[in-house]
Amino acid sequence: MLRVVGLLKPWRFPLFPLIVAREKLARGERTREVGGEPPVMDEPQGVAEYDAFGMGGEVGIHELSARAISRLLPEGGTLVDLGCGSGRLLARLAKGRPDARIIGFDLSEPMLDTARQLMEREGLAGRVDLRRGDITTFDAGLSEEPDVVSCNFALHHLPDEEVAGRCLEAIARVRSGTGCAVWILDFARLRHPGSWPAVVSMLRWPGPVVHSDAIESERAAFSEAELTRLLERSGLDDLHHLRSRPLGEQQVHWVAGREHPAPVTGLWRQAPLTRETRVLTRLALQSYPRSLAQT
Ligand SMILES: C[S@@+](CC[C@H](N)C(=O)[O-])C[C@H]1O[C@@H](n2cnc3c(N)ncnc32)[C@H](O)[C@@H]1O
Repeated sequence: MLRVVGLLKPWRFPLFPLIVAREKLARGERTREVGGEPPVMDEPQGVAEYDAFGMGGEVGIHELSARAISRLLPEGGTLVDLGCGSGRLLARLAKGRPDARIIGFDLSEPMLDTARQLMEREGLAGRVDLRRGDITTFDAGLSEEPDVVSCNFALHHLPDEEVAGRCLEAIARVRSGTGCAVWILDFARLRHPGSWPAVVSMLRWPGPVVHSDAIESERAAFSEAELTRLLERSGLDDLHHLRSRPLGEQQVHWVAGREHPAPVTGLWRQAPLTRETRVLTRLALQSYPRSLAQT
């Protein structure tokens, strides 16, 4: 297993306000660049490094997503997660919400194997069902009626707007049949090409593949305007839209379930965090309005 030692490079933090200022001054949209990272993450070294990152640098944003999804998930409810990867986010959610049932889809067998091993180790295998499936057609064989459909950091893997639109149309079909809530989080392409690489340089990465993928992910991301337009075209026109503050490197689109419009609180069980992941969690939570993840 790859070791995660010292996640942050705090001596680089003073650069952050300058990165934000330069981004705010940049004008014009960059073109989306795909192909820098594999569409389906099934190369073993990349999977191992991504999983190690899920134990460290990614804990903060997973914590934010897990708590925000928990607010959409009624007691005893079912979540379907698209592009679940090595399962770190789903394990966090399953621990935080012991009443929930979770189904994760991914096309990468090595990711699913890694996730299944994690669920076994954590005693979560009975509640987290991991399936090989394409997120653009996931609804075809789905017999369950989910209360929430989520998709975290997966849309930017899809090659173009047409394919991404298919994924969103599949989510819209499930929402129209079940009234389920929707939670979508992904990178948002920034204007200045140096902004995101400069932030990446503030973290220690568990290996070269995940380091390079992190940089490529923002290049391949849809801009907030592109994704909002795609959501509307796909029939998901009642979602709320948010951008992370202050830089704007992430975007979130969500809506509550039709039968559960009020936030679900009081069911979340907070797991302890290490000192460094506490810092990352605080930073992730501070990037959005407080109410988004209040459990
Ligand atoms: C960056 S990972 C995100 C993992 C996890 N959701 C998280 O937030 O940590 C993206 C995942 O989407 C998967 N993926 C990409 N295209 C897919 C597709 N068409 N169908 C299913 N999974 C896909 C990749 O294999 C990868 O595991």
